[in-house]
Amino acid sequence: MKSPEFDIYLQYQGFLLPRETHFLQSLKFANEFKFKDDDVVAVTYPKSGTIWMQEILPLLLNGGDLTPIQTTVNWDRVPWLGVKRLAEVADKLTSPRALVTHFPYSLMPPSFHTSKAKAIYVMRNPKDILVSSYYFHQMATFLEDPGTFDEFLEKFLEGRVMFGKWTDHVKSWRRAELGDRIMFITYEEMVQDLPAALRRMSDFLCRNLSDEAILKIAEHCSFKTMKANRMSNFSQISKEYMDNDKSPFLRKGISGDWKNHFSPEQLARFTSVIFKELEGENFSLPWSLD
Ligand code: A3P
Repeated sequence: MKSPEFDIYLQYQGFLLPRETHFLQSLKFANEFKFKDDDVVAVTYPKSGTIWMQEILPLLLNGGDLTPIQTTVNWDRVPWLGVKRLAEVADKLTSPRALVTHFPYSLMPPSFHTSKAKAIYVMRNPKDILVSSYYFHQMATFLEDPGTFDEFLEKFLEGRVMFGKWTDHVKSWRRAELGDRIMFITYEEMVQDLPAALRRMSDFLCRNLSDEAILKIAEHCSFKTMKANRMSNFSQISKEYMDNDKSPFLRKGISGDWKNHFSPEQLARFTSVIFKELEGENFSLPWSLD
């Protein structure tokens, strides 16, 4: 049984954050978190490939040693900035540390700005994010029922979803003046050619990985391998929290599933709102929206 929305979200600095994982105390911990110069944080709007990065980053940072992804659950090996669990595992992380977050730029802690920590921003086509999120809301009992696809589309466009509007999130990180501390990559690039995407990330992180290591990492970060990895597929999470029978967390892992869900009217509405909100920005989207 799903709870009413006011029980589901915490309002924090203008954003709705799921109460199940976010508390004022965990947000205070995040705000006081001390970033180190060799930290790396993967930043995503929800459903853009966060758990994928929890698989990728430890392997890129350690040259392909499979121990972390085979022995430690993803939420402990690459913890979430903002989520309660971080306080319990932060001291156990060894450098170079990897983190993930859904934080818009404005929520990043002061130490991030003064450190040389790097950020990898993973962007995904918002139409596929919407579809992925729609199924996620059905399986995650700590989120509200999404209603019909049409209803959920309106909510998404209005930003009445966790972490607010997708356009605001992207804009906040695109406008951040982080120079060579940030790289942007797309989920679609990763789907299309994972070894090439891994090479780009490895170069950004100044890791000198052999082609052999890159291929090994790609194999272990494939959708199929991750789906079978108990440390990454959420099979250890109770059904009361996430019901993988309703829709698996690792659901399809493709780009373009939106074509199976959008009507022509929904597509036109979605595209016009997103275009309008990105008008005048000095970056262009890597995919066509219509
Ligand atoms: P779908 O629901 O479209 O399948 P997040 O981790 O940010 O919540 O994003 C979840 C989305 O990333 C899901 O998308 C999931 O299947 C996809 N994903 C996770 N690991 C992946 C991988 N190795 N390859 C492709 N997609 C992956």
